[in-house]
Amino acid sequence: MSTKVFITLGIESSCDETGIGLYSSEKGLIAHQLFSQVELHAEYGGVVPELASRDHIQRTLPLIKAVLSEAELQLSDINGIAYTAGPGLAGALLVGSSIAKSLAWSLDIPSLAVHHMEGHLLAPLLEETQPEFPFVALLVSGGHTMLVDVKGIGKYKILGESLDDAVGEAFDKTAKILGLSYPGGPALAALAEQGDETRFKFPRPMTDRPGLDFSFSGLKTFARNTFAKYPNEKANIAKAFEVATTQTLMIKCRRALEQTHYSTLIVAGGVSANQSLRKELNKLGKKLAVNVFYPRQEFCTDNGAMIALAGHLRLIKGHKFITNKITIKPRWSLEELEAV
Ligand code: KG4
Ligand code: ZN
Repeated sequence: MSTKVFITLGIESSCDETGIGLYSSEKGLIAHQLFSQVELHAEYGGVVPELASRDHIQRTLPLIKAVLSEAELQLSDINGIAYTAGPGLAGALLVGSSIAKSLAWSLDIPSLAVHHMEGHLLAPLLEETQPEFPFVALLVSGGHTMLVDVKGIGKYKILGESLDDAVGEAFDKTAKILGLSYPGGPALAALAEQGDETRFKFPRPMTDRPGLDFSFSGLKTFARNTFAKYPNEKANIAKAFEVATTQTLMIKCRRALEQTHYSTLIVAGGVSANQSLRKELNKLGKKLAVNVFYPRQEFCTDNGAMIALAGHLRLIKGHKFITNKITIKPRWSLEELEAV
């Protein structure tokens, strides 16, 4: 696999977006497309797993075709397939896994199970200016909140994580309390822009004790109680929630950076799209002389490009999932991954 071009197809289907990406050893990311199921789940106020799986089944093959045609490639040009095997919704994961395994089997090429959070973690490597190892990664998505010591690809040590709600989940639940439509995170962030930061002060959970774990479920309760008392102050409540969350994340990032003595921080996952969080962490970066990296906006949330990249980096080293059995890992720790 030395000088020959290697092209990896990436398939993401762990939750409510079908994402497809194509990554080339020669040109980097060559094409990617996404189908978001937001409208499908909106009327239920959250993701309905059965509907998600059914939709992935309908979207995956047409999206693969569209991505190949965008790149002016044929199926036969693909050298390996990477698919999200977990963590995520079992039925949704099974769709990506079945399609990946079947395609790989019929094309007689390797397929590889990708860890969804490794996809997020490596997403900043899709950009032109790339972070160098080692670094601290703050992963903030709808399902996970983690601080990770990253020494290299697959060399992950979890420094801290959420003991209850993930930060994206807290955004979504708080948005729901305020009557905003699903998915709540971006809607809450938009409303917070009109809020007055000085009106309410929410706590910064678990920052008064040592350690790098998080707890966000209390903030949601705080928002509920405040909203019951001041029903006309939605924007101020949204602002207080956003400020408390972003400052909590900033305080823990600072601790992780001081503890590891690393000079690079990467932030990824859906909530890394949040502008106040970016502002807060950029300020911290300046203060500590730490370089802060993010994926571009569209690669913060779930996408196929990050799965293609994460799989590619392993496939070119000969890593593969040895069996043809369709396997998923709805629960899977980053620390179990093999180093590259
Ligand atoms: O990484 P992601 O697309 O899916 C998971 O792996 O969970 O993250 C989705 C989460 C949702 O909770 C969504 O509300 C949140 O990211 N999110 C945001 C923003 N954009 C997406 N939260 C706050 N501000 C945003 N701008
Ligand atoms: Zn995700």
